[in-house]
Amino acid sequence: MSVDLRGRTCVVTGSAKSIGLGIAEMYLALGAKVAMIDIDPAVEAEAERLAKTGASVRSYVLDITDQKAVKACFGDIAVKLGDVFALANVAGAVDQQAFAEITPERLDRMHRINVNGSVWCAQAALETMRKYGDGRIINFSSKSGKTGSAIMAAYSGAKGAIIAMTQAMGFELAKDNIKVNCLCPGIVEKTGVWGVVSKGYSENLKMEEEAVVKQFTAKVPLGRLCRIDDVVAFVKFLTLDGDYCTGQAFNVTGGREMH
Ligand SMILES: NC(=O)c1ccc[n+]([C@@H]2O[C@H](COP(=O)([O-])OP(=O)(O)OC[C@H]3O[C@@H](n4cnc5c(N)ncnc54)[C@H](O)[C@@H]3O)[C@@H](O)[C@H]2O)c1
Repeated sequence: MSVDLRGRTCVVTGSAKSIGLGIAEMYLALGAKVAMIDIDPAVEAEAERLAKTGASVRSYVLDITDQKAVKACFGDIAVKLGDVFALANVAGAVDQQAFAEITPERLDRMHRINVNGSVWCAQAALETMRKYGDGRIINFSSKSGKTGSAIMAAYSGAKGAIIAMTQAMGFELAKDNIKVNCLCPGIVEKTGVWGVVSKGYSENLKMEEEAVVKQFTAKVPLGRLCRIDDVVAFVKFLTLDGDYCTGQAFNVTGGREMH
């Protein structure tokens, strides 16, 4: 049976724009109380805009790599909005460089934001999710976490770690009835990650963006890039109807990735 999200608290990291913002809007449309987290203060204006519809939404400007600040933020969310039912761990960052040029700082940054940040948010959410006796954690990996991408070894490694971590969490948190899954999207148009990746490939391959898109979509059986709505729809399914799914890494790639 579908979960009724009305009155339940959902937290979305990385929700100042793109995929995270789309997920926050979807949760609000289903009547949830939503905490929007982002390091970018633009998250405040987005939450204000959404609050005008009468929705119960709060914004938090937060660096998810700061474990102490994350814990304090989720403490405030519990007080102001209630125990957390769903956490969409969307905040992430991408980087591109030749493998030989990866520096300790850039490798560390990929792990700190994509992996550590997701761990701190999940730990903090668990404090109230466990009390709830039910819950959903949706981590964000990538197609690159399953099949690594050229000039993106640091990012691919971090996203691969998220898949293994999701499996470990799925095993460990099942006893609390908390389901943990991750999504592995392909290239999602109109997002920050695609902005960085397309620019990098255009420069590296000396191609116009249109040609880069053509090159990417040629390898996608369904013949187009992923849309934000494709990813949002999957998060909606996992939150409302994914009661028998845990520890999975779901591809949303138009068939580009099949394992
Ligand atoms: N867009 C794609 O093509 C694609 C493909 C596969 C996977 N993904 C993953 O999906 C997620 C969302 O991607 P997107 O393209 O929407 O990203 P985006 O760059 O458009 O948005 C990411 C958001 O995360 C926030 N953020 C970054 N570091 C943060 C930090 N330390 N603390 C708090 N917030 C922080 C940014 O400010 C930004 O608003 C990411 O985890 C990404 O790796 C994206």
